[in-house]
Amino acid sequence: MCGIFGYVGKRNDGQKLVFNGLKSLEYRGYDSWGVGVIPEKKNTIVVKKKTGKIGNANVNDLPGGSLSFGHTRWATHGGVTDQNAHPHLDCNGEIAVIHNGIFENYEGIKQKLLKKGHKFVSETDTETLTHLLEDISKKEPFTEAVRTAFNQMEGLNAVIAVSTKENLLVAARNGSPLVIGFGKNENFLASDASALLPYTKEVYFLEDNEMAILASDKVTILNVKTARKIIPDRRKLDWRVEQGGKGKYEFYMLKEIFEQPQIIADIASLGASQAKEMAKIIREARGTYLVGCGTASYACLAGSYLFSKLAKRHVNFAIGSEFGYSLDFLNKDSLVIAISQSGETMDILESVKKAKNRDAKILSLVNVPGSSLYRLSDHKMLIMAGQEKAVASTKAFTGMVAHLVLLANSLNGGVRKGQKSLMQAVGSMKHVLSPGSLKKIDKLAGLIVGKKHVYVIGRGLSYPASLETALKIKEISYIHAEGLAAGELKHGPLALIEKGTPCISFLPNDETYGANLAGAMEMRARGGFIIGISHKPHEIFDYYINVPDAGESTIIPEVVVAQLLAYYLTMRKGLDPDKPRNLAKSVTVK
Ligand code: AGP
Repeated sequence: MCGIFGYVGKRNDGQKLVFNGLKSLEYRGYDSWGVGVIPEKKNTIVVKKKTGKIGNANVNDLPGGSLSFGHTRWATHGGVTDQNAHPHLDCNGEIAVIHNGIFENYEGIKQKLLKKGHKFVSETDTETLTHLLEDISKKEPFTEAVRTAFNQMEGLNAVIAVSTKENLLVAARNGSPLVIGFGKNENFLASDASALLPYTKEVYFLEDNEMAILASDKVTILNVKTARKIIPDRRKLDWRVEQGGKGKYEFYMLKEIFEQPQIIADIASLGASQAKEMAKIIREARGTYLVGCGTASYACLAGSYLFSKLAKRHVNFAIGSEFGYSLDFLNKDSLVIAISQSGETMDILESVKKAKNRDAKILSLVNVPGSSLYRLSDHKMLIMAGQEKAVASTKAFTGMVAHLVLLANSLNGGVRKGQKSLMQAVGSMKHVLSPGSLKKIDKLAGLIVGKKHVYVIGRGLSYPASLETALKIKEISYIHAEGLAAGELKHGPLALIEKGTPCISFLPNDETYGANLAGAMEMRARGGFIIGISHKPHEIFDYYINVPDAGESTIIPEVVVAQLLAYYLTMRKGLDPDKPRNLAKSVTVK
């Protein structure tokens, strides 16, 4: 899931524009970055590429040019080194490629090219494509050579290729996203439409097995298999450029945590009609499946409890990467509700495509309009959480749950009850975000930051809350955390609890309270340090965080506590919560 940006047009500082475009895409991958440019009136390609985040780097030392392209990398093949960063060049430095995805069959092709004398300098799969292009373009025009080479690639990929012989950006995609931006005597390419917003709102989302040839004054779209011309269905993005960066916050994650009360209040009022409409779709389905990955999967799991509790309706839950292995029973009456913040997660896209092949209908809940999942779906719901930049998902998660609360209530005709419950959650979140509560949660972080393991338990709706809590802690503070169904403790995990082990226990004001208390007592009896997250204190808590009751929406303020705890742990460890190691915001590889 790398960031890709390309420019061809009237400006002769294309390299600066590309560099800025990469900055807005850095959340997609930030192991390393690189910018290439063909200097004015020259037929060479000059490249600057570096490991590490773009941060305060610059491209002032690159020559100016009107054709430029850049890449932020999340390493798949080959370590994180300057040499492995993109763009990659051919033997003579006349062809360059940037790539997002996995060139699955590169090894055999690389061996053949090595035998032909090609010199490789990196460990990447991508560099094979550059030398393959160098080879084929000896016999074919460059754009045709890109098509021939791309058709030899197996796997899910998006590539941009340039040659010093043509003033063109040539791109092709199968699986990984690519968006074209149309300007006046200039055209753009990016892996995410939001990066184009400062320059144009007129875009075309390249579809699988399509390729694009961008000149400064013309864009041609072809079918990559048949070379047949395609008339692009241009769209006007009605998005506003996300105002401001982090504002008064040091990190996007904290900014996005504090945006949640307003977002949930907006969903409560604006999401009701969408929920009522989609409830009809769900009612007509025979067999409904909630599917998501990571944090989105925990929203799906919460949804299965909400549909059961509020609508007395059975919906199945599946993790996105697993769903594809258990969907043989799907048919034309099935409905898959696919939930994804980015709408680009490969694990979800793959499963949804398989479900579509079995004639199932797809209802997606995504945060990015125009994303691949959004365009794949028969019915679409928008989370409306605003662009989420921190890798650790916060407002998108609570937004997902909020829409599921409205959906579940709509199924039994009670959307107003759902709205009321969400407004209770807003009040509870504001309490959790109050200065006294923040201080308490930060102090808790100080008490457990040195621990190696944290355990989190919950039942019912607080079970997905426990899983989400553990993920937040793991993915940004790198402290091992495990979320558990409280009832499972005595079936094994209790063996792990020893004196001082931090045990976070969710005890909402519902039918699970008593049983959860028993779970907390079991851990305390083994020396665990009990952190009670509840509407009221209890003597067995060694530490208590107050979360006012919000009925079936209590999971929302509960998870805000978890987000803050993870954030404060990360701060105390001097880490970056927006760009944690090894991760990226959108996982567009399998
Ligand atoms: C969440 O904090 C993680 N970054 C990750 O689990 C994420 O939720 C997952 O990759 C799914 O992303 P999506 O919602 O964009 O599909």
